[in-house]
Formats: sequence, structure tokens, C-alpha cells
Amino acid sequence: MKTELIVILSQREIEKMRQAGRLAAKLLQHLEPMVKPGVSTLELNDEAERWTQAQGAKSAPLGYKGFPKSICTSVNEVICHGIPNAKQILKEGDIINIDVTPIVDGYHGDTSKTFIVGDAPPKVKKLVEVTQECLNLGIAEVKPGAKIGDIGAAIQEYAEAQGFSVVRDFVGHGISNIFHTAPDIPHYGTRGKGKRLRPGMVFTIEPMINEGTYEVEMLGDGWTAVTRDRQLSAQFEHTIVVTDDGVEILTLPDGE
Ligand code: MF3
Ligand code: CO
Ligand code: CO
Repeated sequence: MKTELIVILSQREIEKMRQAGRLAAKLLQHLEPMVKPGVSTLELNDEAERWTQAQGAKSAPLGYKGFPKSICTSVNEVICHGIPNAKQILKEGDIINIDVTPIVDGYHGDTSKTFIVGDAPPKVKKLVEVTQECLNLGIAEVKPGAKIGDIGAAIQEYAEAQGFSVVRDFVGHGISNIFHTAPDIPHYGTRGKGKRLRPGMVFTIEPMINEGTYEVEMLGDGWTAVTRDRQLSAQFEHTIVVTDDGVEILTLPDGE
């Protein structure tokens, strides 16, 4: 259940979100060189858990609503919430989204990237590049007075113009000392619709962009969401705060 009210964070809380966000970005940076043919998604998970603990932080996904691992690893047709597994070995040309959420001093930093394993055909590279640009375009809409619908509209317009589709069933979310809270941030929609953005709101933008249909199928493990047509899906995610004059990305490695 989502909390109804959209919280405005204090400067002290935003500083804690910066710490958590920076650690999340550094964790992705730490894992990136491991993304090579032959590595298992469980090895990525275990290194993420080890590193997170070594930094004195906790992995929010572990045990969250029963999720069994510390990160999500979503390969190829997996849209999101893939569960790391020893038997799942990455191979040349795969794409993998790694989604991490460390908790630092009670606050969550949530970020993900899609990596190409080795090299891949141009159409795969295009999907990944377009998805990264969708995140950038969504972030560019964020400023006080803009509407939540402006974010999704910018993402949807670009993704569909490039021949791809936008997942509806999973959305960005408010985040603070709670992992998932109000508001929902759809990655599709209409300009001028939805709640108005105000300084101090903190939320994620995390578009999932598909080659084919946007329709989702859930696997029997209750977590893994795949494309109904089993074509590829990519995702990028940042946690951001609305500032007095625009936006600050909280999940950058050096907090720039
Ligand atoms: N990090 C994911 C998100 O972006 C949520 C993962 S929940 C889990 O919201 F339980 F699957 F870990
Ligand atoms: Co995430
Ligand atoms: Co998220």
C-alpha cells in the first residue's frame, strides 16, 4: 500500500538521500566491470551484498515483501525484478539491468542501469541508448510547477517515435526512509496532467522500454516480470529531488 501524502523532505533528509544515492551509484560503478560473459547473476548479487555491508549499509531489496536477494538482475526479456541465480550465466550479446537500493542511515538510494554484455547488434544498442535518453528526457521535465504527467509524456513521445513501447505496469515512486511511497511516476501520459511538482519532493524515474509489446507477464516465482512477446526490455533509473529551480540527481557517483 502506498502512503497517500507526498512528503516534502527537509534539507537534513535530502542530505541523507544524497549519501544513500551516492552509495547506490558507486555500487553500480563497482559492479560494472564484473559484467562479462561467464559471470552468474548470483555472483553479481553476492559481490553487491558484500560491498554494501563493507560500506556499513544495507540492501533494501533483501527480504522486501519476501524478495530473496540483494539486487535485481533483469536479463534480456526480463522487464524488472529478476532474481539473481547461480545457474544464470551471462553470455556475449545479453543485456542486463542491475537495480540496486542501499539503505544508508535509514534512507534509500535507488538506481539501475542496463549493461550490454560484450558486444551486441545495432538494434540492441539502439534500445539501450533510447532507454537511457528516455530517463534523461524525463529528468529534464522536472522543476517546480511542472506536472507529473509532463515526465511520462516526454518519455512516451520519444520512446514511441523511436519504434519502442513503454511499460505501464511498473512506475517510478516516491522514496525516502520508505522504499516505495507516493507519488507514482508513470513513464507514459499526458502533459499538464497529474500532481504539481514542488521543491523537496523526492522520487525515482525508471522507464522500462520494450522492443515489442509493452504487455507484461509474471513468471511463477511471483517476481520476475517478462515481456509477453519475449522481446527485449531495457531500463535505467535515477532517484531525484525537485529543487527550487529544477532538479538534482541524487544517484550520481560523485554527487555532481
Ligand atoms: N529497485 C526496484 C525499484 O526500482 C524495486 C525492487 S523491489 C524488490 O523500485 F523487491 F524486487 F527488490
Ligand atoms: Co530500483
Ligand atoms: Co525504484
